[in-house]
Amino acid sequence: MERKNKVFIATSLDGYIADQAGGIDWLHSIANPDNTDMGYGAFMTGIDALVMGRKTFDTVCGFDMDWPYEKPVFVLSNRMSQMPEKYKDHAEIVNGSLNQILEKIHNKGHHHLYIDGGQTIQSFLKEDLIDEMTITIIPYLLGGGIPLFTDLPERLKFECTDTKIYLGKVVQNRFIRKR
Ligand SMILES: NC(=O)c1ccc[n+]([C@@H]2O[C@H](COP(=O)([O-])OP(=O)(O)OC[C@H]3O[C@@H](n4cnc5c(N)ncnc54)[C@H](OP(=O)(O)O)[C@@H]3O)[C@@H](O)[C@H]2O)c1
Repeated sequence: MERKNKVFIATSLDGYIADQAGGIDWLHSIANPDNTDMGYGAFMTGIDALVMGRKTFDTVCGFDMDWPYEKPVFVLSNRMSQMPEKYKDHAEIVNGSLNQILEKIHNKGHHHLYIDGGQTIQSFLKEDLIDEMTITIIPYLLGGGIPLFTDLPERLKFECTDTKIYLGKVVQNRFIRKR
């Protein structure tokens, strides 16, 4: 069974996924009159489940909208002891080593995973567990915030396999891990 861990995320021009206060309003700073999803729908079709950090989960829970995911969501957290009742049908808490977490999710039949959240992606990268990253760059210098990338124990080589420009202003690159 082929297994893939994929990232689909937007960053500022200076590489942040949220501003210093965790804000993501700048993600919508480019006018998008036709509501193009910039490939998000097609990406979601290709994944079986999401693995997200607790802080990203908190952000999603704070959106003024219905639960946005149709696929199962696994929330990484050492701090949460119980999933709030409201989200019990949608999401499950997982913790332990990443390999233990992945084994548990694979055993449930989910093999193509969307990995989301800065610290979460960084912890997967530290163990060389990311196979593909689609990064949409919003041309905005935030000057600080939550970075997508941080130090790694070793270099990881990726190959850019696709580049798209959306709305005439936003560059999206797809990178595949070369092992
Ligand atoms: N630009 C974008 O497209 C985009 C996408 C996603 C998120 N965001 C933004 O990014 C911010 C959240 O990212 P973040 O980097 O702060 O955090 P995150 O990765 O979403 O969440 C970090 C938390 O996840 C848990 N965690 C991470 N790795 C773990 C592991 N190996 N085992 C157990 N628990 C683990 C811990 O939760 P506990 O503290 O509960 O133990 C940790 O505090 C939010 O502001 C969100 O809006 C932006």
